[in-house]
Amino acid sequence: MTGSYPNTRLRRTRAFGWSRALHRETLLTPADLIWPLFVTEGEGLEEPIGTLPGVSRWSVDGIVERAREAVRLGVPVVALFPNTPPERRSDDGVEAHNPDNLVCRAVRAIKQACGDDIGVLTDVALDPYTSHGQDGLLDASGYVANDETVAALVDQAINQAEAGADIIAPSDMMDGRVHAIRMALEMGGHHNVQIMSYAAKYASAFYGPFRDAVGSGGLLKGDKKTYQMDPGNIREALREVEMDIAEGADSVMVKPGLAYLDVAATVAAHVDVPVFAYQVSGEYAMIEAAAAAGAGDRDALVLETLLAFKRAGCSGILTYHAPVAAKLLNG
Ligand code: PBG
Repeated sequence: MTGSYPNTRLRRTRAFGWSRALHRETLLTPADLIWPLFVTEGEGLEEPIGTLPGVSRWSVDGIVERAREAVRLGVPVVALFPNTPPERRSDDGVEAHNPDNLVCRAVRAIKQACGDDIGVLTDVALDPYTSHGQDGLLDASGYVANDETVAALVDQAINQAEAGADIIAPSDMMDGRVHAIRMALEMGGHHNVQIMSYAAKYASAFYGPFRDAVGSGGLLKGDKKTYQMDPGNIREALREVEMDIAEGADSVMVKPGLAYLDVAATVAAHVDVPVFAYQVSGEYAMIEAAAAAGAGDRDALVLETLLAFKRAGCSGILTYHAPVAAKLLNG
């Protein structure tokens, strides 16, 4: 119950910094962050990504340095995405099953350098490996075939788990893939490998810079609307989330972030598993562009938007701003 003025003046508790600190309902810490990283072939390489100013692709040695940096900053997880060389992309994306592909080499290198000081999340979906840029296998009509794709995703997930991945994150939006991956992990003895499912992932215009970063943007013809969710839907998001939990997901994700904060809040209020949000590449680019145009203070925009996810009920956020935010939070 809220009193009435002047017995109650809501500005009283806002008058001083110590009081604002005391009454703050939501906190953001470096431990809330997951840092997505792009891996590229080679040695000693850093390739800046034009549409993601401040973000680069790194060769495996550089990825290991980023992982060490995450440990120093208190960021508990890095997420890996490969920029597969064009000659290793194919219609069926078989490079996803190669135990020596970029992601597997990066996982092994990080685990060798940092051990259990950091968690490594790997993305399950075929788009960084296919010559057509879709997340799955195409049938004769060009439709992404669900069940054939799930079989390929299972192999991809096991390949990543065997390389040492701690969290398997299917981002493909096929039906039934969480159950299939969970069964295969159990049968393979990977009992403690987590599944963080991209449960409510929308067909969004905010993924453009990511597709540049993994080199799939130029390859993709058409869109992903036959498997990623329609932006108009939220009840369906709950069905996606409930099914993935029933199938064995340890945590679920909503993606993109800010434009879908209502979805994240509704999901978080509805289920008991940890909910994560992915502040995606286009959101990062918007904040950087706004700051570069003098329309806002970059650091303040970063911390305010990330805090919003915590306030909405999220356990954590995948964000390219993770190192920037962690440095700010660590003072
Ligand atoms: C692909 C995948 C995408 C992202 C993560 N995994 C893009 C897509 O679905 O086309 C987007 C992340 C971002 O934009 O930052 N499976």
